[in-house]
Amino acid sequence: MSLTDVTTVPVGGPSLAQERRLVTAIPGPRSQELLERKADAVPSGVGHTVPVHAVAAGGGVVVDADGNSLIDLGSGIAVTTVGNAHPKVVEAVRAQVAQFTHTCFMISPYESYVAVAESLNRLTPGDHAKKTALFNSGAEAVENAVKIARKHTRRSAVVAFDHAYHGRTNLTMALTAKAMPYKSGFGPFAADVYRAPLSYPYRDGLTGPEAARRTISVIEKQVGADNLAAVVIEPIQGEGGFIVPAEGFLEELVRWCRENGVVFIADEVQTGFARTGEMFASDVFGIVPDLLTTAKGIAAGLPLAAVTGRAEIMDASHAGGLGGTYGGNPIACAAALAAIDVFENDGLIERAREVGAVLTRRLRALQVADPRIGDVRGRGAMIAAEFVVPGTGEPDAALAASVARASIAEGVIVLTCGTYGNVIRFLPPLSIGDDLLNEGLDVVAAALNAAQ
Ligand SMILES: Cc1ncc(COP(=O)(O)O)c(C=O)c1O
Repeated sequence: MSLTDVTTVPVGGPSLAQERRLVTAIPGPRSQELLERKADAVPSGVGHTVPVHAVAAGGGVVVDADGNSLIDLGSGIAVTTVGNAHPKVVEAVRAQVAQFTHTCFMISPYESYVAVAESLNRLTPGDHAKKTALFNSGAEAVENAVKIARKHTRRSAVVAFDHAYHGRTNLTMALTAKAMPYKSGFGPFAADVYRAPLSYPYRDGLTGPEAARRTISVIEKQVGADNLAAVVIEPIQGEGGFIVPAEGFLEELVRWCRENGVVFIADEVQTGFARTGEMFASDVFGIVPDLLTTAKGIAAGLPLAAVTGRAEIMDASHAGGLGGTYGGNPIACAAALAAIDVFENDGLIERAREVGAVLTRRLRALQVADPRIGDVRGRGAMIAAEFVVPGTGEPDAALAASVARASIAEGVIVLTCGTYGNVIRFLPPLSIGDDLLNEGLDVVAAALNAAQ
């Protein structure tokens, strides 16, 4: 079996034709052939949402192996925020790969790792002294944040939240709330992890301070502040359904953590890097986390993740306690420095707000016309619609799945999420044009109208 003939594959990046173009059914014959190979070679546990094989991507589109061009409203789950194959990232990666590909930072350090750390220390909330350690994935960053918090506090308990998602490694499965598909059958899980209620304004009707009081009471009664190393929370939940806590909830939780010597860890793996219309979601609420984890958007698709935080907490670990063979790989660091340049200098925070305004306006208009959309929420270019049974507000996962499936069949990549599977989330690359964004939303609207 040969790989796709490279002479027929379009070059990715923003020069790709910015259009939705269906030349076959989805999936087309070439994608079908590749999906059969996938089924034979790759375990069924590694699923896929969109039944096509990608060959190029850029701007606001993904081109598949049959020449179909799909509108991308998912960014590979909030990763290609600067746009796929962004020219600055491509150039930086090309230059680095020709220079050296790996030394292992723990063996022979190099400047780009330090430069990424300096950028994150500068960009993350708070003007206190900070340090950053780099890793490969979001889950690895969260694991390390917990390790660091435990070492610093000499306590072991960790609190995570209802609807949380933090990854698929053993500790992060324990932190993650949803059993299916993330945890079911994969236990036993890491010990000393406790779950607390979140603020979910659409479903609990509580103000932020009320929700915080409930949460703090659960933590104090079931864990005890003296035993608690860290609270780990996504300031706006990602996989859990783009849940934005009520105003005052996070602020109150940060205050309580500080009063009790508990490390407040903001997991910004999904929300980081301009996605929410601020550089970080913590900035949306004006909170300053003790530690902050990032990944996804940080390096435009190359595997990189980070823990950034108060220098005295980050320095708690003994020498050699943190790291990994590939953590802060030089190619990923080159990509990150290029991506950070784009985030800072190419108006991406502003663009996220514009994209968010289009998404919110269009989805709210749909909601007014269709009571099956119970809630439209999010910040910046991270907006979701929650589908419900009108009258009862019961989650309607079947409707969300059917709208997503029909949209994909018409050449628009959308993702579902939520504990109940009844949320469609919109996370377009910020390189998408308004025309394409609106066309994508037209397709989603038509899919909703057609769904029974
Ligand atoms: C908030 C959050 N934390 C952690 C992770 C895990 O990141 P990764 O898949 O890179 O391990 C994710 C991934 O979706 C995430 O959304």
